[in-house]
Amino acid sequence: MLDNKVVELLNDQINKELYSAYLYLDMANFYIDNDLEGFGNWYNIQAQEERDHAMLFIKYLQNNGIKITLEAIEKPDVTFKNLIDPLLAGAKHERYVTDLIHTIYDAAYSVKDFRTMQFLDWFVKEQGEEETNADAMVKKFELFGDDPKSLYLLNQELSGRVYSAPSLTL
Ligand code: FEO
Repeated sequence: MLDNKVVELLNDQINKELYSAYLYLDMANFYIDNDLEGFGNWYNIQAQEERDHAMLFIKYLQNNGIKITLEAIEKPDVTFKNLIDPLLAGAKHERYVTDLIHTIYDAAYSVKDFRTMQFLDWFVKEQGEEETNADAMVKKFELFGDDPKSLYLLNQELSGRVYSAPSLTL
């Protein structure tokens, strides 16, 4: 039997992960509209990963006999003007998601919910990687984004990202 507050936060995280997918789709669309299909590919895969994260929260709750409540997903509220804007917004967003995961972890810890803590361990590690990747994108763009030839090569590099399913299975 999971604690009510922990369940509420886990259920809420489904919505947050789906919103993340929406946000990254918006970023992918922005780059595709600007003829940068490689950046678009990178963010479309990022959106797929976020849907996977949402499904992991759903599965975990269902495995524990909890009925899922799906809420409306907010419309992405960020306006992009410059090519670097989604990269900066992505890095900021991942830090926000890290805080959300830590808040759930804290709630689980306070009621000695070791099962949920173990489930969340994967996300704690994943968020470290997400932040590193997002920061690397910003750094690369700052170094190369102003030069058209380098931007072309960076776009090519990002077009090579391929989707892989999450290493966590439930
Ligand atoms: Fe689901 Fe990018 O964190």
